[in-house]
Amino acid sequence: MSIPTPAPSDKFSFGLWTVAYPGRDPFGEPTRADMDPIYALENLARLGAYGVNFHDDDLIPFGSDDSARDAIIQRWKQGLADTGLAVTTATTNLFTHPMFKDGGFTSNDREVRRFAIRKVMRNIDLAAELGAKVYVCWGGREGAESGAAKDVAAALDRYREAFNVLGEFVHDKGYDMKFAIEPKPNEPRGDILLPTIGHALAFINTLDRSENVGVNPEIGHEEMAGLNAAHGYAQALWQGKLFHIDLNGQNGPRYDQDFRFGAGNVRGSFWVVDTILSGGYDGPVHFDFKTPRTEDDKGVWVAAEACMTNYLILRDKVQAFRADPEVQEALVAAKLPELSVPTLAEGEGWAELEKAPLADPDQLAARGAAFEHLDQLALEYLYGVRGA
Ligand code: GCO
Ligand code: MN
Ligand code: MN
Repeated sequence: MSIPTPAPSDKFSFGLWTVAYPGRDPFGEPTRADMDPIYALENLARLGAYGVNFHDDDLIPFGSDDSARDAIIQRWKQGLADTGLAVTTATTNLFTHPMFKDGGFTSNDREVRRFAIRKVMRNIDLAAELGAKVYVCWGGREGAESGAAKDVAAALDRYREAFNVLGEFVHDKGYDMKFAIEPKPNEPRGDILLPTIGHALAFINTLDRSENVGVNPEIGHEEMAGLNAAHGYAQALWQGKLFHIDLNGQNGPRYDQDFRFGAGNVRGSFWVVDTILSGGYDGPVHFDFKTPRTEDDKGVWVAAEACMTNYLILRDKVQAFRADPEVQEALVAAKLPELSVPTLAEGEGWAELEKAPLADPDQLAARGAAFEHLDQLALEYLYGVRGA
């Protein structure tokens, strides 16, 4: 198999903050210079990306006056026109400014909460103008380090209030835009509210305009929580809530590694790609990674391109795996088609089930599930000895 080449038709997108990450971490200063957003657009277009997205402050430094802001936006629009990149989503930075030390929407300080909602509204206006269809909300600082400092029920009330107000805002302005909540279990807070896909889905059900709110799961964040990311993506799809995706690499529960896609739990990545493809996700294939601070500018573009290459490699492998007749036989042997048959027959209820003859438990227990063969076939595709 040759190394695949990304193209805009693959719908790959990157956050401005991903490629422009200068390598600052809690222990060290940046190792790379600040990146001009137009330079980022040019390189992403050169590598075959389709789209880009940004936090308000990635593009417009916090505190810029109106004329500076307008000039930056004009230059950005020109850069988009010159490179042909689309703005797929946008998001708000509610975590860098010191005022957000206790969160934005759920800060105990009401004035901070009012500021946060206004900050989001302002960037939604810009996002709509630039054609973004999804607005991502990652509540990185909505959380706590200690117990009594956060009344979780009250904080969830305020979280809901913020989404209800913003939902009203988008509706009243007539914007064609949905919200996607991005769960994360911890970092930068000791514990973050809405820590997993499941928490976010349950929260969304309580919102006034819940149909307009879904999730933006990040592989790394689910792995940080020790969860199976593919299963989380699958449930979000099943509930019609997979509005956006953040693909990257992570090796189990530890700090948020944000490795390039494919460079973390490889087997988990294979199943995420399989889940996305078979579940019919058709939004942008977005990467949220940070190039390690060991790398220079050249390394940044190596890593960005590798996110796309690794996705295409896994996509080929997943498609070959699904198309293989031997795999289809193994799926039947493992009773996958049977899982799609309702447990009760047409017209049958609990009363009929109560009277129906059942299979012999010893015979049921003696049946092998045939999962190991099926999984080994997948691994042989992944390891490159099948379908190469
Ligand atoms: C993380 C998060 C962030 C968010 C981004 C969008 O790595 O902790 O993924 O990168 O996705 O800030 O708001
Ligand atoms: Mn992350
Ligand atoms: Mn993310």
